[in-house]
Amino acid sequence: MKGIILAGGSGTRLYPLTTVMSKQLQPVYDKPMIYYPLSFLMGMGIREIMIISTPVDTPRIESLLGDGANLGISLSYVKQDNPEGIAQAYLLAEEFLDGDDSMMVLGDNIFHGNFEYFRKAVRKQMDKKDGATARVFAYPVNDPERFGVVEFDEETYKVKSLEEKPAHPKSNYAVPGVYLYDGTVSERVRNQKPSARGELEITDLNQAYLDEGKLSCEVIGRGMAWLDAGTPESLFEASSFVEIIEKRQGFKIACIEEVAFKSGFIDEVQLSRVLEKMPKSPYKAYLERVAANNIREVKKAA
Ligand code: G1P
Repeated sequence: MKGIILAGGSGTRLYPLTTVMSKQLQPVYDKPMIYYPLSFLMGMGIREIMIISTPVDTPRIESLLGDGANLGISLSYVKQDNPEGIAQAYLLAEEFLDGDDSMMVLGDNIFHGNFEYFRKAVRKQMDKKDGATARVFAYPVNDPERFGVVEFDEETYKVKSLEEKPAHPKSNYAVPGVYLYDGTVSERVRNQKPSARGELEITDLNQAYLDEGKLSCEVIGRGMAWLDAGTPESLFEASSFVEIIEKRQGFKIACIEEVAFKSGFIDEVQLSRVLEKMPKSPYKAYLERVAANNIREVKKAA
């Protein structure tokens, strides 16, 4: 299973914030937005990740995250010269995917909670025992008209319809920006026609899988927070959410070095090397506590 983060787009809804800094580098409370989708994919156990962004922003994201070696993962980058739709990512990532299954997360989608919903879907995608080769998720929202909307049979969870930002949504279930596809995805997108607005729509791609009876929809329960951060309001709310949870619990959300360490991608020695390079900051102090607590836990277990 490989991972893709699509961090493209011009972020016009956040203008003037995005005049010189891309949406995915904006702060969500105490870290850049892209840390959230990155830690999400890492939390799925995915270690080979491609980041797709604009020609201007790709080098900036690369200077922020590097090649991933300090996190025990491999990060590669590709530029999306013209934003021609979310599904275009699969044309740009074709070589990288090399026929593997993949999970893509959009760079402005933030998840917090029990990731087991998603991990289960990753496992189902890998064994494909249910016959599905593509998976989307469904999440109840108050404003479905802002999103891709999925209508499904309440008993069988079979998808009945998919619509992109419908004026009159058939359900209140939005499709979050996380998608699982099999190795045929790039070829499918190559055969896909752009929509009326000239884009390779992710919803059309999902529709193609649905038409063949190969799309499964996994409903996300209410224990999971899904936030998008593409408008000033949602960006501000996402920051408040992260601040409240972090202050209350003392744990950081989307601390990529902690996720790498706790996932076993890096060991204590590698973590201490990462810490040496970090400037004195509350973020570093937190990670030092993570490392120290781990030493205590190991001693206790011995
Ligand atoms: C995109 C997708 C939409 C999905 C949403 C999730 O919309 O087109 O189907 O529900 O991401 O964030 P965008 O936010 O790019 O307008």
